[in-house]
Amino acid sequence: MHHFHYINGELHCEQVPVRRIAGAVGTPFYLYSHATLAHHFRTFDAAFAGYPHLICFAVKSNSNLAILRLMISLGAGVDIVSGGELFRSLQAGVDPMKVVYSGVGKSKDEIRRAIKAGILMFNIESSQELGEISRLAGRLRTKARIALRINPDIDPQTHPYISTGLKKNKFGIDIEQALKDYRRARELPHIEVVGVACHIGSQITELGPFLEAVQRLKELIRKLELEGIRIRYLDLGGGLGITYDQETPPHPRDYGAALVKELQGLDCTLILEPGRVLVGNAGILVTRVNYTKDTEAKHFIIVDAGMNDLARPSLYGSYHAVWPVVEKDRPEVTASLVGPICESGDFLAKDRPMPAFAPGELVAVMSAGAYGFSMSSNYNSRPRVPEILVKDRAFYVIRKRETYRQLIRGESIPDFLER
Ligand code: LLP
Repeated sequence: MHHFHYINGELHCEQVPVRRIAGAVGTPFYLYSHATLAHHFRTFDAAFAGYPHLICFAVKSNSNLAILRLMISLGAGVDIVSGGELFRSLQAGVDPMKVVYSGVGKSKDEIRRAIKAGILMFNIESSQELGEISRLAGRLRTKARIALRINPDIDPQTHPYISTGLKKNKFGIDIEQALKDYRRARELPHIEVVGVACHIGSQITELGPFLEAVQRLKELIRKLELEGIRIRYLDLGGGLGITYDQETPPHPRDYGAALVKELQGLDCTLILEPGRVLVGNAGILVTRVNYTKDTEAKHFIIVDAGMNDLARPSLYGSYHAVWPVVEKDRPEVTASLVGPICESGDFLAKDRPMPAFAPGELVAVMSAGAYGFSMSSNYNSRPRVPEILVKDRAFYVIRKRETYRQLIRGESIPDFLER
């Protein structure tokens, strides 16, 4: 569900013509719909109404301050994986008691900052990290609340780069090892054990792997309780998939109902860390055709956005639908929508039927709200593009286009290179 739709042949975001925004801010740009974001959060949240829960938005999926503020204002906490994400989230006004912090490589500085901020819990990913957090909390004369992130060894049936709960992945702690680490954690004076966590992967389109994960965690929680270790939070991570093309992921309502059913009898607060399902289909990337080019083998449509702006197609071979901003009567062609970056891997859509776009036309690359801007880079010294938020009939620039000056911010030429 989203609020990108045609009115008299023109693509609108809510009540605003996309073409008007392109005229005002130039291309390329990311465009988000407030109504879609709010609807997605409320639907997801409502799916768990029957059980005590906290929705911690995965900041990595879209970390713009305005998006964070919107989620927070709707009641969300955040799932963070770096000091930078902690900083952003605090700037956006998050309640530290709604912050969970995952990641296999937390630095000392990041850990200290999170302890000082008073976050809800660290999701610990190794025995060494447990020791380190305990030591740093001791130095700060306080206690750190923790969960162990379990690696439940479940195949989420998704792209290998975004599977995280298999034994061969770098994430989490082996479920057998976890028991030992919990016993040790209980003895550490600067650690307070509060939870069990896991996150098995992303863009998961079946319920099965989630239910399997809950079952494994439930078993572990029971074992811990027998040893007098009381678990207050069960964090299931994120991962619910969306429709990019033909996928049919479970509706959040069904996902929620199935999980809540599985959790009956367990006296915990459920934490979820959704990213993609909240923001993925709430955003698009708008780009303009610069040229078309026919080679003996192929038809290329060359646009002004590239793999530095949207990395997903190049990185994962992922599919994003391509829509015209102004509908016209015209043939379909089999083409590749490519960017200006000097790499053959620079494509937004590859060898696919699409409208025969002409130079000057605007193209909407759909489902780009998650892991779009947040994964963008300055490769080829391209300024990062603006982000725009539409609400009803108005649009707001929530991040300006970078300038060339900003591209070289922080760089300097040492004296010996003086001309
Ligand atoms: N929690 C943890 C600990 C995670 O590592 C992730 C995503 C999430 C929550 C949110 O997962 P989601 O609900 O968005 O599936 N760049 C890739 C996705 C990487 C996901 C990394 N972790 C992509 O563009 O598909």
